[in-house]
Amino acid sequence: MRTEEPQDFPEIRKLLIEAFADEIHSDHSEQDLVERLRASQGYVPELALVALIDAELVGYILLTKIEIQGVDAVHEAQAMAPVAVRPKFQNLGIGGRLIEEAHRRAKTLGFQAIVLLGHAQYYPRFGYRQASAYGIRLPFDVPDENAMVKELVPGALHGIAGEVIYPKEFFG
Ligand SMILES: CC(C)(COP(=O)(O)OP(=O)(O)OC[C@H]1O[C@@H](n2cnc3c(N)ncnc32)[C@H](O)[C@@H]1OP(=O)(O)O)[C@@H](O)C(=O)NCCC(=O)NCCS
Repeated sequence: MRTEEPQDFPEIRKLLIEAFADEIHSDHSEQDLVERLRASQGYVPELALVALIDAELVGYILLTKIEIQGVDAVHEAQAMAPVAVRPKFQNLGIGGRLIEEAHRRAKTLGFQAIVLLGHAQYYPRFGYRQASAYGIRLPFDVPDENAMVKELVPGALHGIAGEVIYPKEFFG
């Protein structure tokens, strides 16, 4: 695993198209989202990771900055979107390793929490809980169980009830 580099960008695009091709909850435009986020203020280069097997790019994860509008303050956090593994390399633990490494790096950089929209059965194993349990709302019309948050620092989300503010690049 390593930080993405400009020469990876075309291959990352292909990987995202492949990985989300059969995803029913996808709008199949994750490759465009990534390109918009890379050009945004929220991009933190160290939090865009590729997984390689030999020289083949098999996995990708991107965390970018968001804010949570709390009761009396705005809190900086990270959004995980997307994480993807090439279909023929899925279920080998690559997604999990990308997630753990992204968590480690985000914590080292001083971020407190991560927000994501995703599969309700997959993310709890990495410490994600329903955002609603913390009174945190995402500005999307999705079931509660798919809106998830993780504290990188224990207690970081305690008492922060409010709405997640995504940068405009998330909305195309
Ligand atoms: C989700 C994804 C990143 C997981 O990566 P991976 O390398 O296959 O996952 P790992 O090998 O680390 O973990 C495998 C586990 O994840 C589970 N899993 C994989 N995809 C899942 C899904 N869509 N829903 C629920 N669980 C899922 C597997 O069932 C397996 O569970 P087990 O350990 O209990 O057997 C990968 O399947 C993928 O790219 N999917 C298509 C794109 C996508 O949906 N991205 C996530 C957007 S929320």
